[in-house]
Amino acid sequence: MVMPKIAVLPGDGIGPEVMREALKVLEVVEKKTGVMFEKVFGHIGGEAIDLFGDPLPEETKKICLESDAILLGSVGGPKWDDLPPQKRPEIGGLLALRKMLNLYANIRPIKVYKSLVKISPLKDRIVEKGIDLVTVRELSGDAYYGQPRGLDEEKGFDTMVYDRKTVERIAKVAFELARNRRRRVTSVDKANVLYSSMLWRNVVKEVAKGYPDVELEHMYVDNAAMQLILRPYHFDVILTTNIFGDILSDETAALPGSLGLLPSASLGDKNLYEPAGGSAPDIAGKNIANPVAQILSLAMMLEISFNMVEVARKIEKAVELAIEEGYRTRDIAESEEKAISTSKMGDAICKKLEEIW
Ligand code: IPM
Ligand code: MN
Repeated sequence: MVMPKIAVLPGDGIGPEVMREALKVLEVVEKKTGVMFEKVFGHIGGEAIDLFGDPLPEETKKICLESDAILLGSVGGPKWDDLPPQKRPEIGGLLALRKMLNLYANIRPIKVYKSLVKISPLKDRIVEKGIDLVTVRELSGDAYYGQPRGLDEEKGFDTMVYDRKTVERIAKVAFELARNRRRRVTSVDKANVLYSSMLWRNVVKEVAKGYPDVELEHMYVDNAAMQLILRPYHFDVILTTNIFGDILSDETAALPGSLGLLPSASLGDKNLYEPAGGSAPDIAGKNIANPVAQILSLAMMLEISFNMVEVARKIEKAVELAIEEGYRTRDIAESEEKAISTSKMGDAICKKLEEIW
């Protein structure tokens, strides 16, 4: 087998420290499976601006295009917030990379770990019903990329737009995914007000005809925000637009108790895997961030890009066992005193992985 090649882009904030832990886990995988990965490191976001004056340097583009998959940390931070929009880490770095790779589907699964029921912000009686859902966020359209957009002293505007093809493509991803799960798709829009959502809803209905075995319901985004808190156990696959998906997936991420647990996969010409949480500049560099989201993103990469399904399950199991045994970073610990560092958390997960292999 040719050596699979991955682009590793740690990025800003907590990116580098959580990435280090994911790479430790990958080392265990390499040792156990004998499959060695070629890792090519690249710069992106604010740190790339500092080094090269560009949030997505040519070298990084090249590395990504020449790799089989991309593992990303996170981008952005207050240091770069005053730059012109197109030069900022988010727009010039991450969004430009998503565009370059044609990333159109962002998959963000969440599960509430039994041992973490207590740290969920929701009442036990709700959490105990079981929360296991996945957000399928459209990633290539909407107000994120719609033209025209602009900003001057007096006016800032964006264009919220969807076309049929883009909606069809993402709806299919959601229905296919639902077939391997509990077969319910909740399409979230704002079709009582927005034209782009009216098209969205019509097209989703049409696509649904090809999946009679999957139940489809429509929900307005404001109501969805509420239902996610009142009865999160109701949801299986949430299919939604770029901006609503951005917002709702952070909300879903809060249900298990921490944004630090949520991985994501972005599918396109080449797939990219990244934690759904941000760069968390307030805790960056302190070795206290939770590496789980990055480690689970690695698991998604192994499963989706390299078909190492069982390995992915093992990593997920190792994470769960480590948490169950009480290894927890500050964000998910019962108390500050009991919290362990980012690197210790990574070590604990690696150790579990070795044990259960
Ligand atoms: C995310 C992030 C990004 C987004 C930012 C950093 C551009 O919040 O991946 O959810 O809005 O898509
Ligand atoms: Mn977001």
